[in-house]
Amino acid sequence: MKNSHCKHLKECASCTFDTSYDEQIGLKKDFIASKFSKFYKGEFKVFRSKTKHYRCRAEFGIYHENDRLSYTMNGLNTKYLKIDECPKVDEKIANLMPNLLKNLEKDEKLKFKLFGVEFVATSSDILAILLYHKDINSIKDELLNLAKILDINLIARSRGKKLVFGSEILNDTLNIKDKIYHYKFESGAFLQPNKAINEAMISFISDNIKAPKDLLEMYCGHGNFTIPLSFKFRRVLANEISKSSIKNATLNCELNGVSNINFLRMSSEELIRAFGGESFRRLSGVNLNEFDFSHILVDPPRAGLDKSVINFIKNHENIIYISCNPLTLEENLNDLCKTHEVINFAIFDQFVHTKHIECGVILRRKDDI
Ligand SMILES: C[S@@+](CC[C@H](N)C(=O)[O-])C[C@H]1O[C@@H](n2cnc3c(N)ncnc32)[C@H](O)[C@@H]1O
Repeated sequence: MKNSHCKHLKECASCTFDTSYDEQIGLKKDFIASKFSKFYKGEFKVFRSKTKHYRCRAEFGIYHENDRLSYTMNGLNTKYLKIDECPKVDEKIANLMPNLLKNLEKDEKLKFKLFGVEFVATSSDILAILLYHKDINSIKDELLNLAKILDINLIARSRGKKLVFGSEILNDTLNIKDKIYHYKFESGAFLQPNKAINEAMISFISDNIKAPKDLLEMYCGHGNFTIPLSFKFRRVLANEISKSSIKNATLNCELNGVSNINFLRMSSEELIRAFGGESFRRLSGVNLNEFDFSHILVDPPRAGLDKSVINFIKNHENIIYISCNPLTLEENLNDLCKTHEVINFAIFDQFVHTKHIECGVILRRKDDI
């Protein structure tokens, strides 16, 4: 059966899988098995996604034609493609998209030099970010009016300038094993794009933690994994490079009544140097020697782990590796599997209708090391 999820299929460069969802899952599983069977002989568990309205953040270009505006995506065979639907986006975004365009079209000042729109939707909030090639201070009143009419959080950006109408801090909740967790984060910060799959990833990690003592989590963002996992551990040390994410991670502890996490605004490479004895002011009174890490959790960007990080984490018993790039995951496992064995491997279909694959790998130190 062919995939008929979107009328722009075969023209749009975003969702390019032209097969049924069952076939997509089969192809992804085969691809992962072909790459990772050398490390893991068990079953590759697949977490399936809903196939529409699964994406809580999206970016579009804007095309101007006489008085009309259209959303655009990169085209498969053209630089851009005009689109009038995008079924992968969250329902709140899908509903807002035509309404926003209609209101922008009515106002010459608002549409002049508008070149893109970004959307973020959470369980309770929606935000649209309008991108301009002009001085946005000249349209302040019009933007305020637009935010009121649509009853949304609205940001306008142009080079070096930002205007915020409503809040740029978004609120969200996650349901992990029937417990609700509350989060705040900034629109520009990293956000797992598929909320249901994010919840499945956190449950998977939680289910795979045995004999917990302390947790070291690297690349922790605003505490997405950290907060629910903290209830399993005595103490948690978590680091992240983004200042605003760490600020919100600390707020998220308060929101969820958590007091056993130390968040550090440091790169993972710096943190490894700190473990090696280098002093950093940002360690702010945290004594690294007090921790007894039973588990290390890493969720790096697409580039994977730096050598120094690999050399550090392989001294620990349990490693949980969440990866959005099978190529760097394979490279890193080539190193990590000298000391560790893979005891569980999951595929999370975070990016439906695309060839991107998210994986979760549970590693345990080999007995004879
Ligand atoms: C894939 S995201 C994961 C975020 C978080 N685990 C979550 O689920 O929301 C990777 C995160 O690593 C951060 N990051 C990028 N390079 C880093 C580095 N060298 N050291 C520490 N954090 C880094 C990014 O800011 C981003 O928040």
